[in-house]
Amino acid sequence: MINAIILICAYVIGSIPSGLWIGKIFYKTDIREHGSGNLGATNSFRVLGKKAGTVVTILDILKGTAATLLPLIPYFNDSTIHPLILGAIAVVGHMFPLFAGFRGGKAVATSGGVLLGYAWPLFIILVLGFLIALKITKIVSLSSMLVSIIALIYSIIYVIVTGDVSLLILVIILTAFIFYRHRANIKRIKEGTEPKVKWI
Ligand code: G3P
Repeated sequence: MINAIILICAYVIGSIPSGLWIGKIFYKTDIREHGSGNLGATNSFRVLGKKAGTVVTILDILKGTAATLLPLIPYFNDSTIHPLILGAIAVVGHMFPLFAGFRGGKAVATSGGVLLGYAWPLFIILVLGFLIALKITKIVSLSSMLVSIIALIYSIIYVIVTGDVSLLILVIILTAFIFYRHRANIKRIKEGTEPKVKWI
């Protein structure tokens, strides 16, 4: 029973549509009707501006972190669900949110939050990798996919060094989510029509 409750909590946390709620409450704007139509941090930056975009990014990251840390709550002491499974479920909630008609984001920020909760050195590497990739390519979606490849390489090295495969399994799942959710972006990148950012 406690395992079912903790899984539901992880999904509900991931389902919090920060971009949608911040847009609607403070800007009277539904970000799904503007920009890329995505409910994530990038489209929040694009549609609502830097301040709201930063807040949405932080909140979306914290959703993933919070889900992996749920087992620390005394009520969940007897749960046998691995924190990484909780993180992955939060990412599913972010992509298919209960509170936003199951139309959510593209898994990037919340996946980052899962890694922040479980393997923070990797999170730091990915943030730096993302900023460098964005500086070079100016394309957020491409930079997001590139860092998931960096995460895969890091996780493979981690398996070789520690023998622990759990991080690699998680990263494979998150990378699959990220590439699946970026299908339209990949098409636009190939066609040369994916928007570039000017502010970096
Ligand atoms: O975080 C999602 C990002 O990689 C792409 O978002 O709105 O440009 O499709 P968007």
